[in-house]
Amino acid sequence: MINRTNKINMIVSFSKYGIIGFQNNIPWYVPEDLKFFKQKTEFHCVLMGRKTWESLPSKPLSNRIHYVVSSQTFSDSQLNKNVYCFTNIDEAIYHWKQNFSSEKDLWVCGGQSIYDLFLEKRFYILNKVYTSIIHEDVYGDKYFNIISLVKNFKIDQSYWIKDSKVEVLEWVKKESFNY
Ligand SMILES: NC(=O)c1ccc[n+]([C@@H]2O[C@H](COP(=O)([O-])OP(=O)(O)OC[C@H]3O[C@@H](n4cnc5c(N)ncnc54)[C@H](OP(=O)(O)O)[C@@H]3O)[C@@H](O)[C@H]2O)c1
Repeated sequence: MINRTNKINMIVSFSKYGIIGFQNNIPWYVPEDLKFFKQKTEFHCVLMGRKTWESLPSKPLSNRIHYVVSSQTFSDSQLNKNVYCFTNIDEAIYHWKQNFSSEKDLWVCGGQSIYDLFLEKRFYILNKVYTSIIHEDVYGDKYFNIISLVKNFKIDQSYWIKDSKVEVLEWVKKESFNY
């Protein structure tokens, strides 16, 4: 059982079509959004895929416990005591539950493959999803499945920063898809 006082949340920024990345980077620079990410995740645990870990310009992130998932154990000079690597996402969640969940939330931080794993099969364990719409026209090769999110996630379970869920839906209809 997940202890609901300490939670698993998801945080994502996306642009048109749900673009989240390009060439293993985030294709915009929005200081306000970085600040928000830090404000929410600092002093908590962050869960990410191996490629997102590798894309971090400065790592590990300060004052955060990292869970990095990869199909194989990998070496990285930046791996240290605040970084745990798991080959299975559920083992990472289990480790967080056993070791940190009484004090720290777990933040699902991407990239695409990790968001997909939660949106497809694990959205029911998410407490809140924090979304930021980036109003910039960018090229992308990695996407967040906004349709899956709005279908699976009830309005009152989620908290939408900057933009209400209604606004997100209207934006999705206008800009991206025939929802
Ligand atoms: N806009 C945002 O909010 C945001 C947030 C985060 C990331 N991003 C962007 O997203 C992009 C990266 O996304 P991505 O999908 O390419 O990579 P990713 O999800 O960060 O990492 C993918 C890797 O994670 C490992 N993995 C995935 N599923 C696994 C599983 N079930 N079990 C064990 N390991 C698993 C695999 O590592 P191995 O190959 O080592 O097996 C896989 O190659 C980048 O462009 C990044 O900048 C954007």
